[in-house]
Amino acid sequence: MELKPARILALETSCDETACAIIENGRALLSSVVASQMEIHARYGGVYPEVASRQHVLSVTPVVEQALAQAHLTLKDIDALAVTQGPGLAGSLVVGMNMAKGLALGSGLPLLGVNHLEGHLYSAWVYESGELVPPAPQFPLMALLVSGGHTELNLMTDHLTYQRLGSTLDDAAGEAFDKVARLLELGYPGGPAIQKSAEEGDPNRFHFPRAWLEGTWDFSFSGLKTAVLYEIRELQKKTHTLPVPDLAASFQKAVVDVLFKKTINAAREFGAKEILVAGGVSANRMLRQTFRAQTEFPVHIPPLSLCTDNAAMIASAGYHRYALGHVSQMDMDVMPTWPLP
Ligand code: KG4
Ligand code: ZN
Repeated sequence: MELKPARILALETSCDETACAIIENGRALLSSVVASQMEIHARYGGVYPEVASRQHVLSVTPVVEQALAQAHLTLKDIDALAVTQGPGLAGSLVVGMNMAKGLALGSGLPLLGVNHLEGHLYSAWVYESGELVPPAPQFPLMALLVSGGHTELNLMTDHLTYQRLGSTLDDAAGEAFDKVARLLELGYPGGPAIQKSAEEGDPNRFHFPRAWLEGTWDFSFSGLKTAVLYEIRELQKKTHTLPVPDLAASFQKAVVDVLFKKTINAAREFGAKEILVAGGVSANRMLRQTFRAQTEFPVHIPPLSLCTDNAAMIASAGYHRYALGHVSQMDMDVMPTWPLP
């Protein structure tokens, strides 16, 4: 499909990153600025919503100015604006939404509300401007979305066309990483902390349960988290020093095992040509290596900088909506529905 050329400026403020990016033709990244609040929230062991929303208010204008300056552009060079509409923290989303509406009203540019999850999937289309153009994902595509709030398998048969096959019944994969990191006192955010500790550990020391949920494409990670907790309690009866790296490595292996095998099986079953993995947990080294080691399907995983929250992915999804003639109403609210109609 030939899509019309356009530059999109997008804003993302759904959680604890204030981000703005500019993308050309849905793929070429002209600039991407992410103001992370991670250090502030680390003090609380997780995202503190009220603090997040106040930080967005402070950062949003400078972040937009920086994104334009880095791309050597002004709003006159932009064809449309995009903004994360949800899901996310309401008080955070509303800051980006109001900024985007203000920019749209002031400039007369069309505005597109983008679902954050759709944005994560589109991060796999983005490449740094000046890089050799990587091949775009081909449909039908089996898309595994693994973030802090969601774990889903979606079959994409075309742009913006999703069939949600399954999702988590309890904790999201990223949430499981964060909760187990807390049990192991590894700090926040848990994913990178578990990965680091796991690199020193033996992934085969503990055999934690895998919830295969046969006959469905759903996931479940709360049993695994509880199994880690019970193992810790048992170990604490015998020793003062927990084998943290072995626990982290065995936990990580259990998560990756399930995500990988279910995705490959779904790709086979639904006749997908290729696989896409996106969302914060797709930054996980073991997950990336495991998907890349198989040769049955070409696999698309965004570069590390685009796995966790960013605005480039919102700009890419926004572009694909804009190119197909979508535009949002100025009275749109935060919190859209998913899967999208
Ligand atoms: O996509 P994301 O930035 O935010 C949401 O939309 O939720 O995902 C954040 C999640 C957190 O749970 C974090 O622990 C996890 O992604 N994460 C990782 C890694 N980096 C981030 N999980 C495992 N390994 C990593 N390297
Ligand atoms: Zn996200």
